[in-house]
Amino acid sequence: SKGDYEHYMLKEIFEQPSTIKNTLFSHLNLENSNIHFENLDELKEKLVKASRIIIVSCGTSWHAGIVGEYIIEELARIPVEVEYASEFRYRNPIITKDDIVMAISQSGETADTLAALRYSKAQGATTFSICNVFNSSMARECDFTAYTYAGAEIGVASTKAFTAQVAVVSLLAIQLGLERNEITQERANSLVEEIKTLPSVVNHIFNTDEHIKSVAKNYTQTTSFLFLGRGINFPIALEGALKLKEISYIHAEGYPAAEMKHGPIAMIEESLPTVIIATNNEYYDKLVSNAQEVKARKGPIIAVVNEDDSEMIHTADFVFKVPRVSDMLQPIVAVIPLQLFSYHVAVLKGCNVDQPRNLAKSVTVE
Ligand code: F6R
Repeated sequence: SKGDYEHYMLKEIFEQPSTIKNTLFSHLNLENSNIHFENLDELKEKLVKASRIIIVSCGTSWHAGIVGEYIIEELARIPVEVEYASEFRYRNPIITKDDIVMAISQSGETADTLAALRYSKAQGATTFSICNVFNSSMARECDFTAYTYAGAEIGVASTKAFTAQVAVVSLLAIQLGLERNEITQERANSLVEEIKTLPSVVNHIFNTDEHIKSVAKNYTQTTSFLFLGRGINFPIALEGALKLKEISYIHAEGYPAAEMKHGPIAMIEESLPTVIIATNNEYYDKLVSNAQEVKARKGPIIAVVNEDDSEMIHTADFVFKVPRVSDMLQPIVAVIPLQLFSYHVAVLKGCNVDQPRNLAKSVTVE
């Protein structure tokens, strides 16, 4: 039930501290912080020695896949490719028995993702899924499944499933990094200790919900948005744009921030707001200069920044503040205000957020 919440989507956004926690602690020993994936043992060797990992997925789960690409390549140094399942399955891709094909799916039933897995399996690849539904088709058919424990997701727009997927992928990357000797036990421990704080960090962001709602009031008449992010926050720009599109029917595009110059900058004017994810990392200065370029063309800016931000707050029209965490862990934190923003814009516009027009929760036909 929705309990005290007006919509399932809002309830599911607010459940994230506990769904992230449940997911983490299903794969993490609380006492010694060791990461473990049940039944992975026989596959572990294959995974550790994999020549590459190909992630196949759709929609929001595809965005979790890009986060996975960045984290796995950074920590485990295994080449990762992220593919739209629909494109992958039809283009005669090159797959070998040394490949690991990993599906990321909330439902475990998405037709294109399932077909991509079956195709890969037939080519001899090892198949792996990250699923939220126990015993779903993908979980049954894959060589190995790591579950997310987000609980049933009712709202059509995926929120808590996404952060749970990113949590699993992060733990997996750390474990692979350790097994492959690409990261030290020390780095792994410090990441794990920080990961454990994410539920309370996310909870803390909810204190800004009223502010996010008041900012949303300015954008109910807006027809188009640009979302920019860089590095590990690039997929969060895509996800912020997708959330806004699907529940508020406002056109939105997510771009890697540096790509702005290669086209989208032509669109910038007073009526086109840009959402810039500018939490502190090595790209911060570059994002500040992107913001200045937007401002110089009179484009309004909403920026997701850290609480101790010093520069973006002077450039942006509005900021959504989030606590500062390590670069690798920023996606789970940065996505929260964007979920809330799209929710509030949609509600203020009178849209049916739990059942947006034309969308199905699980796309089991092509
Ligand atoms: C977006 C959304 C969809 C799904 C996509 C994949 O909010 O819900 O884009 O992410 O249909 O679904 P799963 O993860 O069930 O394979």
